[in-house]
Amino acid sequence: MPRDEGMNHSIRTIYWQDGAVVMIDQRALPLVERYVTCTDYREVISAIKDLTIRGAPAIGVAAAMGIALGVRRLPDASPAAIRDAFNEICKQFAAARPTARNLFWAIERMKRCFDETARSLRPIREALIAEAIRIGEEDIAINRRLGQNGRALIPDGARILTHCNAGALATAGYGTALGVIRAAREEGKKLHVYVDETRPVLQGARLTAWELMREAIPCTLIADNMAGFLMQRGEVDLVIVGADRIAANGDTANKIGTYSLAILARAHGIPFYVAAPLSTIDPALADGGLIPIEERDPAELTHCGGVRTAPEGISVWNPAFDVTPHGLIAAIVTEAGVIRPPFAEGIRKCW
Ligand code: MRU
Repeated sequence: MPRDEGMNHSIRTIYWQDGAVVMIDQRALPLVERYVTCTDYREVISAIKDLTIRGAPAIGVAAAMGIALGVRRLPDASPAAIRDAFNEICKQFAAARPTARNLFWAIERMKRCFDETARSLRPIREALIAEAIRIGEEDIAINRRLGQNGRALIPDGARILTHCNAGALATAGYGTALGVIRAAREEGKKLHVYVDETRPVLQGARLTAWELMREAIPCTLIADNMAGFLMQRGEVDLVIVGADRIAANGDTANKIGTYSLAILARAHGIPFYVAAPLSTIDPALADGGLIPIEERDPAELTHCGGVRTAPEGISVWNPAFDVTPHGLIAAIVTEAGVIRPPFAEGIRKCW
């Protein structure tokens, strides 16, 4: 499997190669390790929608590379026609998934790059490809910095609970919440990670467990509904999760089940941390109530591994994310530093 040069641990989630976008197929993990090559931008959009690639920062990188791919294959035309085609591609990416702020952040960055480049197709193509590759490279460097900033929050011997996958697979590499855990490990700290299974798509069981095990980081898988009992028994020292979108006041949207964990952590006096790059922060949204929450296919709940597990015709509610109020969060770890309450002030200073 390809890995990042100079990085011992990190998986290479997505990269640009020979005019195509290559990504690890996260639907197939952990049973099959295979890479998917997208040569058409519409394939990248489908990959975002069907969770071949997922996790807020990875979705942003995929969108940037997908937009570059779309423009690369445009026929030459007038500047106005090129702009229209570019905007149409961006619009299609913006409709892929609604919650992850990084998707819209990456599209905005590609739009700025387009605006700053000469009007003819060739330099536009080259500039957009370079920008997309840069967004991917920067993401890995940002996660490394974020990990360095957050590792002091992890005491030696810590028993850590995490939810979903906020690892190398959810980013271009290294990870956010798992980046902090990796950085603590690299410092020589002993730790143990409890991995929430993360119903209904099992990002914890399938992806986080796989990432941790291939680096021999001690870990134990639990079903989501076991977290409270584990805390009650005094087995959890801290919780750390990633984020899909953070509002200006620190309210944080993350994988469904995160809010319940934050409540449990508060009830047991356990610190609850969020790790995310600044590109996940949406300063235009005053609070988490304004964050759009994706609702996904009911089949994620009615079926398991393609086999029906619920009665035909059952009504289903399947939100993919929930919002944790800022008051339940002890700190937000970013590449610019660790933000402590009051978050509104800390976030304003970072932006
Ligand atoms: O539906 P997903 O798998 O894209 O949801 C991912 C999450 O909720 C992650 O925790 C979040 O994106 C943080 S990733 C660094």
